[in-house]
Amino acid sequence: MSATAMDTRLSIAAHRDFPGGLLDGAMPNGDSGVLVASGMTDFDGALMAAERDRSEVLLAFTPTIAEVLELLVQSRKTRPEMGIVVAIPGPANGSLGEALMAGAHEIVILPAERTVVAAAVQKAVARVTTAAQTDGAVEARSPLIVVLGPKGGVGKTTVATNLATTLTAGGLRVLLVDLDLQFGDVGLVLGVPPDRTIHDLVTSQGRLDGESLAGFIGRTADGVDVLLAPARPDQAEAVTAERLAEVLDVAARAYDAVVVDTPPAITSATITAIDRAQHLVMVGSLDLPGLKNMKVGLETLDLMGVDRGRIVTVLNRANSKVGLLAHEVKQVLGGTPDVSIPSDRALPRSTNSARPIVAADPRSAPAKALRSLGQRVSRELSKNDGKG
Ligand SMILES: Nc1ncnc2c1ncn2[C@@H]1O[C@H](COP(=O)(O)OP(=O)(O)OP(=O)(O)O)[C@@H](O)[C@H]1O
Ligand SMILES: [Mg+2]
Repeated sequence: MSATAMDTRLSIAAHRDFPGGLLDGAMPNGDSGVLVASGMTDFDGALMAAERDRSEVLLAFTPTIAEVLELLVQSRKTRPEMGIVVAIPGPANGSLGEALMAGAHEIVILPAERTVVAAAVQKAVARVTTAAQTDGAVEARSPLIVVLGPKGGVGKTTVATNLATTLTAGGLRVLLVDLDLQFGDVGLVLGVPPDRTIHDLVTSQGRLDGESLAGFIGRTADGVDVLLAPARPDQAEAVTAERLAEVLDVAARAYDAVVVDTPPAITSATITAIDRAQHLVMVGSLDLPGLKNMKVGLETLDLMGVDRGRIVTVLNRANSKVGLLAHEVKQVLGGTPDVSIPSDRALPRSTNSARPIVAADPRSAPAKALRSLGQRVSRELSKNDGKG
């Protein structure tokens, strides 16, 4: 079969330290809907060659994630319309999440068959296309708020559930989505049984719209709509980035605010949500590893092109007696946190009673801090709402 106009134009680059033996079987040929528009270059020449040959996708063979990060960042800056597939020898060296965060659209673990690589190239094209379509929607009106925190147990779920409850109490129609797809506990924390989950939604047949979405939504005692995480960890896989993107876009049109809780690792689900978010809440805890993780999280968002003005920082357990002074916090974060939540036994108590603390114990100090976060986000939302 010869190349056709429908073929995806591909440029290929390999890092100079990439083990050559792994290239042979993996290189796509003309049979796979892929047209190799430029021959192999090193990373330095990759973007120029892709530009010259009008490539839709760049396939980058790299020995480790660290080596390819700079290329990813440059590519996102200079050719955001181009898909990038990172091919890396397995078991992968370095965090794959980091590569996704920095702009890779697909990752292929080598050795891999050329058909697998070609499929990844086509998927990257699809990703770029859906991202371009949704960009406009995010600009126009974005009720999506993603709660992040690169460390386990820092308080993401506490913040997300209380934020959603505060916004609901303020009169907004709010959906809380649990994107901790494997170990999500929003249902448990808010006392909503997992009768229907996001897994049921994405595996259901038929068109996805506001009405069909409603069939998979639960409701908390305080009136928050929730889309729960799958009941079993193995069901997480069915929630692909493409399906999730559809779900989030439909939710964004159906609700005044969509609050997204995320897992402690950077998954492709988290990245899909970040790509659509107008506001991000970064949660850290008041200890050195907690602060350091928060700083890395903020830097990664920066790499992804997220404007600092859209990020609200939350320091949790802010009165812990661990000897960290205000100026040290400032030094690590490059500023004061926007909201500080004190450490308080009332919090785990409210978790056990299956109600968020803003509802269960509204006068407590953490409830006050969490309400002020809600008010802040609510102000930002009304600023961005095209309706006025
Ligand atoms: N300020 C606080 N004071 C006391 N306990 C807290 C505070 N914040 C959170 N907790 C408790 O810490 C535990 C972990 O919090 P939470 O589930 O919100 O963290 P998470 O970041 O969502 O964790 P994971 O990464 O596992 O999803 C919960 O039992 C919660 O009640
Ligand atoms: Mg959680």
